[in-house]
Amino acid sequence: MSYSSETIALLNNRVSVRKFKSDPVPEALIDEVLNAAFRAPTSSNIQSYSVIVVHDPAIREQLAALTGNQRHVIEAPVFLAFCADLTRIEQAMARHGHSIADNNMEIGLVSSVDASLVGMSAYLAAESVGLKGVMIGAVRNDAVAAARILGLPPQVYCVFGMCLGWPDEAPPQKPRMDYSTMVHYERHGALRDNRTTAQSLDDYDAALAKHYGSIGKPTTADSWTHDMDKKFDPQLRDNLRQQLKELGFDFR
Ligand SMILES: Cc1cc2nc3c(=O)[nH]c(=O)nc-3n(C[C@H](O)[C@H](O)[C@H](O)COP(=O)(O)O)c2cc1C
Repeated sequence: MSYSSETIALLNNRVSVRKFKSDPVPEALIDEVLNAAFRAPTSSNIQSYSVIVVHDPAIREQLAALTGNQRHVIEAPVFLAFCADLTRIEQAMARHGHSIADNNMEIGLVSSVDASLVGMSAYLAAESVGLKGVMIGAVRNDAVAAARILGLPPQVYCVFGMCLGWPDEAPPQKPRMDYSTMVHYERHGALRDNRTTAQSLDDYDAALAKHYGSIGKPTTADSWTHDMDKKFDPQLRDNLRQQLKELGFDFR
């Protein structure tokens, strides 16, 4: 028996889109999408996120510069910045004569999770009405600069941005790792069909190399494992811990 729903089909067909028609997205639609997204679950009901809707071309230009000049950050009809935001909790606690304990790690983590859940919910709500888009983690190339550009007060940082609009491209889907690689039973490592991680990496390298070959993107035979090694050695954004601490989030 197979099950299906519009949401499952939406997820099964989704792909990041970075080219958009110039047609505007009505403000009322953005409101609708974000309102729905705010129904996402939130840890202990803390609702520790804010979304900045950025229209101003000058602000977009500055944001694009710190993302390595990603054109879609300027060109997308909608740019949303999903932020972890502790300011309301701080004010709530101040009413009771307290403040958030010296850069507490738990609150930094849950606010980042909260912002991510809202972001993904907004993305799905947007896709459900035909919008497409891409998330922009590159705002964390310089989290302090992103905070300055977006006018974020202390205790707020931009977890990721999101470009949205009416799609002007339909890229082929990037393959994902095999299902049986990701799902473990009872204990980590107990995979379906006794698969090993090594087999999965070999298969995925081959699948991704084939995909990149088909769209003319240069790659190596060991595509994914090669990319991961290049991405994380040397360490990516190794100043991020210090930057987030400056903004009021201590991931010690
Ligand atoms: C948190 C997050 C940050 C991302 N940041 C960027 C980004 O800065 N620029 C970009 O072009 N894509 C970005 N992406 C998109 C990923 O590259 C993309 O989801 C991934 O390669 C898989 O491709 P797909 O979404 O088309 O399946 C980001 C995705 C996520 C979830």
